[in-house]
Amino acid sequence: MVLRSIMNSQYKTDLLDLKNASDKEYFALNKIINAVRYERQPDDPPIPLEETTNQLKNLPSFVDLKMWCIWNKDHSEMIAQGNVGLMRTEENKHLAQFDIIVHADYRRQGIGKQLLGLIAEAAKADNRRLLLTDTNDRIPAGEAFMQRLGAQRGLEGHVNQLRISDLDHNLIQDWLEQGQKNVSEFELGVWDGIYPQEQLQEIVALLDLTNQQPFGDLEVEEMHITPEQLVEMQKMDAARGNQRCTVYVIEKTSGKFAGYTETVWNANRPEILRQDMTGVFPQYRGKGLGRWLKAAMLDRQLKLHPEIKFVRTTNADTNAAMLRINNELGFKPYMTSILWQMEIGQVLEYLN
Ligand SMILES: CC(C)(COP(=O)(O)OP(=O)(O)OC[C@H]1O[C@@H](n2cnc3c(N)ncnc32)[C@H](O)[C@@H]1OP(=O)(O)O)[C@@H](O)C(=O)NCCC(=O)NCCS
Repeated sequence: MVLRSIMNSQYKTDLLDLKNASDKEYFALNKIINAVRYERQPDDPPIPLEETTNQLKNLPSFVDLKMWCIWNKDHSEMIAQGNVGLMRTEENKHLAQFDIIVHADYRRQGIGKQLLGLIAEAAKADNRRLLLTDTNDRIPAGEAFMQRLGAQRGLEGHVNQLRISDLDHNLIQDWLEQGQKNVSEFELGVWDGIYPQEQLQEIVALLDLTNQQPFGDLEVEEMHITPEQLVEMQKMDAARGNQRCTVYVIEKTSGKFAGYTETVWNANRPEILRQDMTGVFPQYRGKGLGRWLKAAMLDRQLKLHPEIKFVRTTNADTNAAMLRINNELGFKPYMTSILWQMEIGQVLEYLN
């Protein structure tokens, strides 16, 4: 079925071959990505062309990403792109994640809607039921579009930021000292860069902690990454210059992992440290392991990369345990991050 909105549209859409696009396509795509990034985070450096290209060329095989683009009249600039990710995993076969960006000069002409039509059709053809995307308060048009569609707010959160100039270094030393009280029972360890090959099975079990974050009203199933998928994700990360650091805690008697925290640093934006997941298994909570992990990570990364001025992390607004630790460290709201969900049937109804 061809949607009426597509038939009426004035713009031609091209499906990009993401792993084998031309230099011109990669260049134009990176340019529009950075234009919208600048609207959202004007103080941050742009993403270099090489990083975007390497990321796309190294997409994991279980991520089926379809991307359409729209060019201006003389085909010199990309003015919009829309993409949908269909994960070839055991879980969440009902979901499709999408993203649409339209250059600010071309908004409110139905381009977003046109791209959404292609996304919804591709997701439906793959037997998906639910679409997911995210918006922020830096570009309010995203939220306006979602409200127009009747999408549901699945999870509300913030990107929170710590300015290193505001960090109380004595607090970090205090938490490290408190952590030392645990050394008869627990020990800290670090993986820099790729995870040790021989421990991948235990590591994927540790990463299952991501399922213990709040998911609000999102209709998502638990995700259990496999060692093979993890290897592919790491390859893509390395290709784009992401340097991952994992600090973990092991219970000495059992040799079991009790928890971990991860950050990502990239030389393309050396002042920003991305704080990813922190988790402690329920049976080990309430012993100060979370603070110990965070303090050890910050202490280490700030010594290793003295250029870091900001640490950023995304938290659900309902994640009281994580927010408590982050607030103590001095993290402050930087921008909102709303995850939206919508039934594909409802989207197709709106488009028609
Ligand atoms: C959100 C975005 C993709 C919309 O693109 P667009 O081409 O301007 O959207 P359209 O013209 O197709 O508008 C689609 C509908 O949303 C409404 N809409 C879009 N922007 C709006 C705004 N700023 N205020 C109110 N309504 C708005 C339109 O009126 C239209 O409704 P209609 O069906 O009643 O006509 C664009 O603003 C953008 O690139 N934002 C930054 C990235 C982003 O936040 N993406 C959203 C997540 S996918």
